[in-house]
Amino acid sequence: MRQARGGDAVIIADINEEGAASVVSEIMENGGKASFVPCDVAEEAQIAALFDTVETEHGPIDVLINSAGILQNPEAIEDTSMADYDRVHAINVRGLYVCCREIAPRMQARQRGVILNIASNTSLRAFPLPAYGPAKSAVMALTEILAAELGPYRIRVNAVAPTACLTPPLQARIDAGERDYDMIVGNNAIPRMLVPEDVAEGIFFLCSDRAKAVTGATLPVDYGWQVWLSYRAYPK
Ligand SMILES: NC(=O)c1ccc[n+]([C@@H]2O[C@H](COP(=O)([O-])OP(=O)(O)OC[C@H]3O[C@@H](n4cnc5c(N)ncnc54)[C@H](O)[C@@H]3O)[C@@H](O)[C@H]2O)c1
Repeated sequence: MRQARGGDAVIIADINEEGAASVVSEIMENGGKASFVPCDVAEEAQIAALFDTVETEHGPIDVLINSAGILQNPEAIEDTSMADYDRVHAINVRGLYVCCREIAPRMQARQRGVILNIASNTSLRAFPLPAYGPAKSAVMALTEILAAELGPYRIRVNAVAPTACLTPPLQARIDAGERDYDMIVGNNAIPRMLVPEDVAEGIFFLCSDRAKAVTGATLPVDYGWQVWLSYRAYPK
């Protein structure tokens, strides 16, 4: 929504046709341009087809936002099945990697482009998420590597690292009593619940020309969660 309000034509690639359709409708009702292309990022062939379709039908992709991801329930390593581990990595890391690999030569040929990856506060600190945490750390590492590799081609690569954000999966966990709303808010230096619109503003900034000198960064978008974590843990 935020990218569309900023004037971008938005192509949503997702496995959730219904969810994507409702976002497309909302953007179009507000005067923006949007369309949907089904794509499972765990399927490499679908990603190449996705970029071919989009560039044939809509022209060059200037901004790639890698957002597809699945969460993991907190658990110990011995309780995390290898199937769950593989699924998290197939989508959160391999899917993102293949998207970057597919777009890089296209952007290099044009000497322009922006890649924005959704990392996480779990990229930065330890949580009981032995599959998801390392996957998000890999996203941050790849962001830095690609910023260096693609910088000479005037391509910027950045990430955002949101803390717990009130998206549908988190809302479902709060509703099920698995997460505590007030505790999440209390974990942030600024005691507010992070919402998708807050993250979208950080993404919009990093994708815009206002951030033309910023590349290789993983920007915490977290109401101060990261600084609060260590600050309040200081032994008094
Ligand atoms: N919600 C949070 O607290 C939080 C915090 C930090 C980072 N993140 C990250 O933000 C991103 C968005 O997550 P969200 O919380 O908005 O959840 P979400 O479920 O609302 O969004 C994730 C999207 O990815 C899509 N998706 C899942 N598997 C896919 C696949 N194989 N191929 C294509 N699309 C697929 C889903 O259909 C969904 O639309 C994820 O990368 C997530 O890890 C979320």
